[in-house]
Amino acid sequence: MPYTVPKLTDYSPEALEKASANLLSALNAEAAQVADEDGYKAFRDRWVARKNGILTQINDLWLKSAPKDAKREVGQRVNELIGAVETRVTETELRCRDLAILKKARAKGIDAEIDGSRRAAELSDRIDITLPGIHRPIGAEHPVIKTMNEIVSVFRNLGYSVQEGPVIETDYYNFEALNFPPNHPARDTQDTLFIAGQDSKQQRDRLLLRTHTSPVQIRTMERMKPPIRIVIPGKVHRNDPPDASHSPMFHQVEGLAVDTNITFGDLKGTLDHAMKMLFGSSVKTHFRPSFFPFTEPSAEMYVSCFICGGSGKRGTEPCRPCKQTGWIEILGCGMVDPNVYGFVKDKGYDSRKVSGFAFGMGADRVAILNYGVDDIQMFFQGDVRFLQQFE
Ligand code: PHE
Repeated sequence: MPYTVPKLTDYSPEALEKASANLLSALNAEAAQVADEDGYKAFRDRWVARKNGILTQINDLWLKSAPKDAKREVGQRVNELIGAVETRVTETELRCRDLAILKKARAKGIDAEIDGSRRAAELSDRIDITLPGIHRPIGAEHPVIKTMNEIVSVFRNLGYSVQEGPVIETDYYNFEALNFPPNHPARDTQDTLFIAGQDSKQQRDRLLLRTHTSPVQIRTMERMKPPIRIVIPGKVHRNDPPDASHSPMFHQVEGLAVDTNITFGDLKGTLDHAMKMLFGSSVKTHFRPSFFPFTEPSAEMYVSCFICGGSGKRGTEPCRPCKQTGWIEILGCGMVDPNVYGFVKDKGYDSRKVSGFAFGMGADRVAILNYGVDDIQMFFQGDVRFLQQFE
């Protein structure tokens, strides 16, 4: 039964209280039922319409007909009820508006979903599944980088740590601290590429492209006290015209071991082991005297040609990689010159207490030999057809 406004006969406070409570509970119950705009309008009209709305009715049935002595009391009650009804009507209106927005959004969302699946359906009609897929090749390590990593890992397994240094170097690290006397023509033997516009600087501060990885020996000794065992992979530059075995840019792996009582025997044993790891256990090593300003004594190391097995011949043909000699030159090495320690003596390198060996090998050369490539230029031309063969 919907709520109807009763006539009041009893105007006692208790009776008024009861009548108000009934009205408010009907108000709340009906407000809770409202679920859309039409429902809200009906609710609003039923309660606040001027003509015969419930508020008008309580005004007429309760207030106007109240006995004189109860008027004040009834008036207050009616005002409270008017306030409560108006508040509830406004609240209901707002709730309805939110509901409408939500409903619209939901409808749109479903539309969008329907739209999406329709579009997907149309698209899939157009995909020709008989066409080959898109091939996205995964890159691979460059053969020279791969070779450098292999060399480095041989030494890491012996307990060496990896160090790196800048490709643009100062004359000091590339030459002076490696015992190349200032202004000494030994610099020329390295075919150095100097950076332009350095003339106003002192010679030791002038910048150049490092001609070898040896400057990182000094840089590391400045930072690490002996004993040290390090390998240094990196890019180097020399002013060499490009041909099948020369490139103005190439790669070296340097090594340095400094401790007490390190001998040439340690150098030979270490490098012989490394060559067997790189080229196979049957290769032999062979040392010939040489000269480097930063090692004394110095040597060039050769490995027996693993292409022809050291015979210098492949069948009846001459063996090209070893130029028929049966030996391939692979690196420069030697015992660290005491003068070099002089440049880092305040870092704990006392040439009377420590000794060590160093070596530097061309990584590109090792790659050429390992892969049987006959032209170093192939490595740096970026021809994918060449590089793909090493994936
Ligand atoms: N730095 C030398 C070169 O590039 C190689 C080398 C390194 C020799 C270490 C001796 C010791 O030719």
